[in-house]
Amino acid sequence: MDIRVAGGAKLRGTVITSGSKNAAIPILCASLLAKGKVLLRNVPRISDIDNLIEIIKKLNCQIVFKGHTILIDNTFLTYKPLLFEECRKIRGSYYLIGVFLTLFAKCEILLPGGCQIGSRPIDLHLKAFNDLGYDYHIENDVLSISKKQAIISKALKIEKKSVGASINALLGGLSLDELEIENGLFEPEGMDLINFLNKLGFNITQSDNMLIYMRKERDFKLVKHTIIPDRIEAMTYAVMGLLCGDITIKKVDTKVLKYPLDILIASGFKLKYSDNEIIVSNSYGKALNIKTDVYPLFPTDLQPLFAVLCVNTRGQSKIEETVFENRMHIYQDLINSGINCKVEKNIAIIEGSKNVVSQDYKAYDLRHGAALLILALIGNKFSTISNFEYVFRGYDDIIKKTIALGADIQML
Ligand code: EPZ
Repeated sequence: MDIRVAGGAKLRGTVITSGSKNAAIPILCASLLAKGKVLLRNVPRISDIDNLIEIIKKLNCQIVFKGHTILIDNTFLTYKPLLFEECRKIRGSYYLIGVFLTLFAKCEILLPGGCQIGSRPIDLHLKAFNDLGYDYHIENDVLSISKKQAIISKALKIEKKSVGASINALLGGLSLDELEIENGLFEPEGMDLINFLNKLGFNITQSDNMLIYMRKERDFKLVKHTIIPDRIEAMTYAVMGLLCGDITIKKVDTKVLKYPLDILIASGFKLKYSDNEIIVSNSYGKALNIKTDVYPLFPTDLQPLFAVLCVNTRGQSKIEETVFENRMHIYQDLINSGINCKVEKNIAIIEGSKNVVSQDYKAYDLRHGAALLILALIGNKFSTISNFEYVFRGYDDIIKKTIALGADIQML
């Protein structure tokens, strides 16, 4: 899927943030654990969710997706080997492993796909499952897991900060009477999952660096849950407005964006925010010095977007990526577009510039593709972006929302 974007964009208007991709994916998987129907609201219309729905339908669940609301009935849920092509297309399908272990004490699944931002191992997930009493082996890209010993209660420790491994360890341990997870990483999206699991009747609490689950009887009932807003989508439009015009971003929870928002304000960009709204204008700021880290520090998913924002900074900005080992694609695009930028391993130095020479770009992953869209909008003429389907994996209606702000974009 290629798009053609006119540079020199002057944007103005309001954007409504959609539901969070990284909350909706684990919550949709966890819906299979419900005793009764589940109604999910504010679900983003993105291809990762579409893929997950196709998998869940193949497990004999009834699932209806209307507007941004999903109704799931898992009454006839059946165990099947998860060898569907859809499992390979997204990374989040691996949350079905934890769900299957809790439901069936076994799982066979095609190893997950996902953005090419590093090797994306799942060793921490497998270590957690092993500690929970499961054996596993991988053959021809199929991961097979089965119970090796019955475990009643367990204290797990996740050796390295990992969103996915923490969530999967929790989902995989909900058949135990008691479970503790030390050093888990539950960012706002993981917290939304925990809130949802507690609505399903699980009994999960947190204190300091410890998550605690204690079994209790769960009753049959319809559970309703509204997915939190997507904090990365909201900041994507904030960066777009700081470079291209006046944008108001609504339906955003700015509490979970305090760190990146305050960086922008401290740098002098024209940005103000209230609890649920961000207002930005085309502006310049002092050079940025950013290092990605786990929540509540600077999110790795914003790194490629802030790289493009550095075009509107005075002097030399520095960005260091510490979470993923291969998430530096955007810097070569900046260099190709005439920006003075140097990259040494996972550290980039970017000089602000008033001239961006439009190029034809190729997206390598979801956030890189979104950053290329913004780079194309500030170019001096037309650009094309190929592989834009990556962006549709995680941004609900991004083309329509950006055109509504005044951008000239064509699907080729
Ligand atoms: C989740 O990825 C998100 N994806 C990512 O969003 C996000 O960037 C990331 O968390 C960090 O916030 C989903 O929620 C579907 P990790 P995840 O496990 O779970 C290494 C986006 O653009 N690691 O916290 O894969 C891993 O390689 C996507 O929306 C292991 O070594 O992230 C990475 O270097 C991109 N072994 C680091 O840990 C493991 O078993 C953090 O990864 C697992 C991870």
